[in-house]
Amino acid sequence: MFNNLKETDPEIFGTVTGEIDRLNSTLELIASENFVSKAVLEAAGNVMTNKYAEGYPGKRYYGGCEQVDIAEDLARNRAKELFDAAYVNVQPHAGAQANMAAFFSVLKVGDTILGMDLAHGGHLTHGSPVNFSGKLYQIVSYGVEKDTGRIDYDKLADLAKKVKPQLILAGYSAHPRELDFPKFREIADSVGAFLMADIAHIAGLCAVGLHPSPIPYCDIVTTTTHKTLRGPRGGMIMAGEKFADKKIIDPWSGKERKLRGAISSRVFPGTQGGPLMHIIAAKAVAFHEALQDDYKVYCRQIIDNAAALAGSLMDEGFNLVSGGTDNHLMLVDLTNKGVTGKDAEDALEDSGITVNKNMVPFDQNSPMVTSGIRIGTPALTTRGMKESEMKRIGQLISRVIANIGNEDVYSETRSEVKKFCDEFPLYIF
Ligand SMILES: Cc1ncc(COP(=O)(O)O)c(C=O)c1O
Repeated sequence: MFNNLKETDPEIFGTVTGEIDRLNSTLELIASENFVSKAVLEAAGNVMTNKYAEGYPGKRYYGGCEQVDIAEDLARNRAKELFDAAYVNVQPHAGAQANMAAFFSVLKVGDTILGMDLAHGGHLTHGSPVNFSGKLYQIVSYGVEKDTGRIDYDKLADLAKKVKPQLILAGYSAHPRELDFPKFREIADSVGAFLMADIAHIAGLCAVGLHPSPIPYCDIVTTTTHKTLRGPRGGMIMAGEKFADKKIIDPWSGKERKLRGAISSRVFPGTQGGPLMHIIAAKAVAFHEALQDDYKVYCRQIIDNAAALAGSLMDEGFNLVSGGTDNHLMLVDLTNKGVTGKDAEDALEDSGITVNKNMVPFDQNSPMVTSGIRIGTPALTTRGMKESEMKRIGQLISRVIANIGNEDVYSETRSEVKKFCDEFPLYIF
């Protein structure tokens, strides 16, 4: 494989094979990453990258769209089936683009968004001052409680009444607990706000019923397709039966229209040009895979593995935000270990274990240093690892963090990591 690439561009060929080696020989615990199947890889790297297809199936601005129309319809219909959604748009290039188009569908510049604080698990696009969301909208942040690490819905309801947001945002990048979408709906209704869920992280779990679905409760649902959903890098916007045809005032035209129409026109032509048709084809393949029975078994294992890893870390004396996890990720507060998130990330990387430093709620350190690390199990679960491997990986993480700077420990850990990797092979081309 990759013979043409090798001949044309040996330097990039080297980075691709180097990346394959890295993936094959390290333990991937970044909560937002996963390993796609070879079928998804083939769909993502094909001739559809050549095609311009501005518009939507049957209504394109370019000729020659018959095959890509079929691919996009397959992607949309499979996603509708998977999530029980009435409206699906598979064109957003990424999660950030999906969120931008979603906000532009219902909000005017200057409107108020009530979203989760970044340090408490929110995403950049949920109102960070260095992101378009923080520049264009008034952002009021909510967070989790210091003693429980959980959202206090009564406090959130009070805050909503005080600030009267136009949109309430649920769904996060680093929150280990189940979300109560009916409660969010009640709060949104009490102040006449739109309710949006960004299920980028938990999409796979929602699709198979292992996390409650936001579709019956939220006006708009956005997601990425590359995390628990195990598809190519990309974004998607959905709306349920009750909401897709809801009449809204389009903030760009000032005229009444259906929500689905506003979303479609904010993705294209509002914020994007030609869709990435090869990626849409790969999304279709991933949704097909997620509709199979074994995908639910996989998602169950992600959660069981996260519980096992969380248990192992707590046995080793680590503090987990909220005391554990209900989903695929956990947030480890390293304060009691006297180690920063950055040092832990670096030491673990040197030992063959990949995690990311992450702010913890009420963090005193900067985002480049942090007091915590975020750990997730989707990728290693794809590799076939189960609870016993998770228990051992928790012990390995503990040993590295107790021995920051000790090259012997890093090297011993790398040897053990290699054994794991050999036992659970990943990409063999
Ligand atoms: C909750 C959430 N929303 C949106 C995004 C943005 O996705 P992308 O990186 O594809 O733009 C992420 C990415 O990590 C995320 O965690």
